[in-house]
Amino acid sequence: MAQIVVIDTGGQYCHLIARRVRQAGVQAGISAPDRALEAAGGCKGMIISGGPRSVYAPDAIRCPREVFTGPVPVLGICYGHQLMAHALGGVIRPGVYREFGEARLKILGKDTILRGVESDTIVWMSHGDEVVSPPPDFDVLGETENCRIAAMVNHRRTMFGLQFHPEVTHTQHGQTILRNFLFDVCRSVVDWNIASQVGAVQERIRAEVGNRKVLFFVSGGVDSSVAFALCAHTLGPQRVAGVFVDTGFMRKGERAQIQAAFGARGWNNVRFVDASRDFVSALHGVSDPEQKRLIIGNQFLEVQRKISRDLDLASGAWMLGQGTIYPDTIESGGTKDAAKIKTHHNRVPEIARMIRDGLLLEPLVSFYKDEVREIGRQLALPEQMVEKHPFPGPGLAVRCLCSDRDHPVAPGDELRHIVYGRYGLDAVSVPLRTVGVQGDYRSYSNVVLLVGDADLDTYGQAATRITNELPATNRVAFLVATRGKENVRSAFVRRKFVDWERLELLREADAVANTLLAEAGLAGKVWQFPVVLLPLSFAGGETVALRPVLSTDAMTARCADLPMDLIRAMARSVLAIPGVDAVVYDVTSKPPATIEWE
Ligand code: XMP
Repeated sequence: MAQIVVIDTGGQYCHLIARRVRQAGVQAGISAPDRALEAAGGCKGMIISGGPRSVYAPDAIRCPREVFTGPVPVLGICYGHQLMAHALGGVIRPGVYREFGEARLKILGKDTILRGVESDTIVWMSHGDEVVSPPPDFDVLGETENCRIAAMVNHRRTMFGLQFHPEVTHTQHGQTILRNFLFDVCRSVVDWNIASQVGAVQERIRAEVGNRKVLFFVSGGVDSSVAFALCAHTLGPQRVAGVFVDTGFMRKGERAQIQAAFGARGWNNVRFVDASRDFVSALHGVSDPEQKRLIIGNQFLEVQRKISRDLDLASGAWMLGQGTIYPDTIESGGTKDAAKIKTHHNRVPEIARMIRDGLLLEPLVSFYKDEVREIGRQLALPEQMVEKHPFPGPGLAVRCLCSDRDHPVAPGDELRHIVYGRYGLDAVSVPLRTVGVQGDYRSYSNVVLLVGDADLDTYGQAATRITNELPATNRVAFLVATRGKENVRSAFVRRKFVDWERLELLREADAVANTLLAEAGLAGKVWQFPVVLLPLSFAGGETVALRPVLSTDAMTARCADLPMDLIRAMARSVLAIPGVDAVVYDVTSKPPATIEWE
């Protein structure tokens, strides 16, 4: 029985809150807003999540007022904080400044929930609207530079509102704040751990599969390997088969590595299919990231259909297994009110139909990456496999940016105004759009390129300021090096699509940069290291973007602060690859950018 109920108002982080509660050892459940009153009946406390809408929007998600004033303590986060203020007589208005990513919390009242948290602590923001006047009988507990009421509490100490996100790991004392709420305010007791969950998942696998067999598409990545191993372990290896599809979007040497790793485990029931020609040619002339994702998802299904015919899978004796994990579904708009950020290749419409028809098994769908790694360890999978960096199903295809037209970079006076006086840097807007997540919504906006010498911290501060102040910007990179002496203002975005030549170039750049990271002993320190090819030309070639990030669950991330010497060494090695004109380093957090550029 859940001690804490999280009310899902449709944000990206609702399940992350539930996970943090579980991490503290407390059973958490999730409930829809219209069932919040019933849910309040049997629990010790409620948390209202953040969500993408404004409280004044016609389709705003609401909770009955009694939820806040009822028998159990309530914590409202972001939209939940605004909802609480709105329901109880406070005032909300669109923020003068939007805030994405890092902010500093000044503590005005060190109350229950902020016990153990020092003033000036880093908190993570993602909002446009803000509470400007608290409800009667509320005290303000904290503020940031751009948000006057960042934390509040009622006089009886039963209702708490936080504009920032304590659940994301980049909020410095987020877990302390949640623990204060769980244990000091709600008086919860410890009753949850991951080992107890594995047994429950195995039971679900047995029940859902019955006496069928399961076919998995394995990529060699952590999720599909753990899902495959868990099913082989639960059902017996003879009832599980794997297919590895070479899409042409894999990394250098990937297929050989996978063959070696799976062979060593004695998993000889994996067949290899080379479908690279079909995948690469299906993307011919396509530049829109969502379109690319859909095409790739459907190509996977095409391969599956062919295999189904070969193995006579349509007989009803088989179902399809996937290693989908929780964040994959949330960014695809997987919950009722969440906005779609990206269509995960596992979530194209035909897959949704298979889920409805009971033909799909996704044993890891309620877990996060670090929990999946923990399950992998419990199954005695080798550490090298469990610790592997995440790699997206659509692979290098979503790291090979395309453009359907030629376009010059734009100087942008407004940009210069923001960065020159303050940071001594020049900036240009690159007419190349990338995906971001801002205020719980998907954005698709131009990249800004910073030019000039600074340290990573300064580049990062400039990035935060630019993305907060210029609504049409979600990603900022700095120019590390160019091959010649070309001026960034004469650079051009070229009309380009995914093709073999570009994929080969990207594969090489990815291998070179990731090898240098590993040789520096830093591969284990970063969450993942996407290397991205941009059709941004300085002298007839293209630009490579380096995007190493720190994260614990991919829901939020920050730019990895690699040593500048290493960044420059990577740039030199990548520039030695024929066809590379320039190397840039992405300094944006998530939010406002996503980890992958598409
Ligand atoms: P974003 O770019 O949304 O990515 O911040 C979050 C995490 O998900 C991975 N990713 C994917 N993984 N299929 C996958 O298996 C996909 O379509 C996909 N898109 C993003 C990404 O690499 C990061 O770890």
